[in-house]
Amino acid sequence: MKKIVVLSGAGVSAESGIKTFRDSGGLWDGYNVMDVASPEGWTKDRELVLGFYNERRKNAISAKPNEGHKIIAELESQFQVIVITQNVDNLHEKAGSTKVLHLHGELFKSRSTVDPNLIYDIEGWALNIGDKCDKGSQLRPHIVWFGEMVPMMDVAVEETLSADIFIVIGTSLQVYPAAGLLEYVKESNPKFIIDPNMPELLPRSNLFLIEEIGSIGMNKVREILIKEYL
Ligand code: OAD
Repeated sequence: MKKIVVLSGAGVSAESGIKTFRDSGGLWDGYNVMDVASPEGWTKDRELVLGFYNERRKNAISAKPNEGHKIIAELESQFQVIVITQNVDNLHEKAGSTKVLHLHGELFKSRSTVDPNLIYDIEGWALNIGDKCDKGSQLRPHIVWFGEMVPMMDVAVEETLSADIFIVIGTSLQVYPAAGLLEYVKESNPKFIIDPNMPELLPRSNLFLIEEIGSIGMNKVREILIKEYL
């Protein structure tokens, strides 16, 4: 079985009603990134940070996977598929993908502020001041903030190095190290980029640009994969 690695970003969830970050009207239009997504922001105003992610959770809790997520999950019947997502929602899992690596953390999990190994599921949408871990410290969102290490990056690089096919969907490729994964794909292997507003890319071989929204783009890519790469 050929191995497909999918790198996804906020755009794959746009058709499910989840806002992207950098499109106009996106999440970073209404917030100062460093206030809500950095360790400094957390130190300054924990309530604001918790409130920001509570809103995200409220919005994501009822969201349903769209055709793009579903096609990615369905590819597992014909390919080995690993999804590396920058998204903190759980729509890839809801669609049925079984191997999902969350580079930037998970919205529906919380983490101890004294022991990073203490990770808990969040039932419902609220994480509040006073919610504590088993060691008695305040819980924080299980999100990788700006200025923090991306713990899953080594695994993501390993998976990418052994990909036969690489698909990028719905990411502006502005945030590193995630955006750098493309560099690890073998030159001779196909790289599909799906985005209605194509990010600027360095020229490279075997690059297929599909300027479409996620559902339509994934449909097109599936057709090509089945015809040419099965
Ligand atoms: P961005 O908001 O930067 O980029 C979203 C991309 O999705 C853009 O290139 C859009 O053109 C595209 N897009 C919009 N609608 C789409 C649709 N219907 N189908 C497909 N694509 C569509 O989001 P990311 O690249 O995911 O990190 O952002 C990366 C990281 O920056 C996030 O994980 C987050 C953010 O700061 C953290 O919070 C740590």
